[in-house]
Amino acid sequence: MSKYRLLIVLTVVLAVTALVPAIQAQGGWTPYTEAMLGGGTVQEEARATGPLPEGCPVPAVKDHYVIGMSQANRAEPWREAMDSQIAAAAADYPEFEVIFQDAAQDNANQVSDVENLLTQGIDLLIISPNEAAPLNEVVREAWEDCVPVIVLDRNLVDPNYSMFIGADNVAIGRAAGAYAAQWCADNDRAECQIAEIRGLEGAPPARDRGDGFRAGLADGGLSEANIVFSQNADWLRERAVPAAAAAFQAYPDLDVLYGHNDPMAEGALIAAKDAGVDVGRVLFIGIDALPTPDGGIMSVLEGRLGVTFVYPTGGRQAIDWAYQILVNHVVPPTWVVLPFDTVDPSNAQEVCNTFACPAAK
Ligand code: FRU
Repeated sequence: MSKYRLLIVLTVVLAVTALVPAIQAQGGWTPYTEAMLGGGTVQEEARATGPLPEGCPVPAVKDHYVIGMSQANRAEPWREAMDSQIAAAAADYPEFEVIFQDAAQDNANQVSDVENLLTQGIDLLIISPNEAAPLNEVVREAWEDCVPVIVLDRNLVDPNYSMFIGADNVAIGRAAGAYAAQWCADNDRAECQIAEIRGLEGAPPARDRGDGFRAGLADGGLSEANIVFSQNADWLRERAVPAAAAAFQAYPDLDVLYGHNDPMAEGALIAAKDAGVDVGRVLFIGIDALPTPDGGIMSVLEGRLGVTFVYPTGGRQAIDWAYQILVNHVVPPTWVVLPFDTVDPSNAQEVCNTFACPAAK
């Protein structure tokens, strides 16, 4: 061997031996990079031990991976959008197959959906839990069985998962509250009577959207006392209709109707019209802003909702991170926050163009 060749061999050997301890220290896992965040921000950093409990091996290298997706309730348009995004993103990775389950807004169903997916031997679980507490245990079991878990949109009680991805519902609620307060000030509604139609009690976004809203009202000089009516309609349009009917009957001069999602805000609008309310003088607030024909962006453009907020589903991000975890053995941040946008008449056309809603120009 020439001196030159010997030098190259020695350098390679040295470089490899220098790297081995670093890799072993991470248990075969690699740190994530900023570029992988794709517009999201880190709320909780990656765990030093990796995305699985200690003692779990890194995922096996395969040419075909099965991902289980446990959806809380496919009947809701926003959840249908999440599943479609997951399917579209997975189509970009030929080695991925996704099995979708729909719990139909039933916690017990969702527990057995997850158990069923685990029996099928999935390589990774994506779950958007119906409610936090009832799904906590089954997710912990999956994770402790060394199955990577990505939780979307509704968090669990304990962080027994690889990562959580979702928008900041306190911040969205706060923006909604501040908007309501400003609107009342601009429209000379000194009393500013507000009704709230809440999401499912055990789902963290309902609590966060409620708490954030109250903080936003306070930012704008109002208070909890302005909320004259508050009722749960479980995220569902059909349950929001009777709830809002009761609100408009008890308070015919309501100024603001805050629905924790767009379907409930639209249901409230129907109830108000049925009750003969002059809906032109009420601010209807929703959240989701789907770019679909009956989604929130079109609703603002058509003058039904006064304001809504783009609530990203995280479907694409979940699949991209699944690839990083399973194939590249990357340790993701434990909590990634996705950005949201306010949609009101001043920017609805622009948002529609960006998200290719039916009225895009
Ligand atoms: C659908 C949905 C959305 C809402 C989200 C909150 O189930 O109610 O409309 O933004 O869940 O988790």
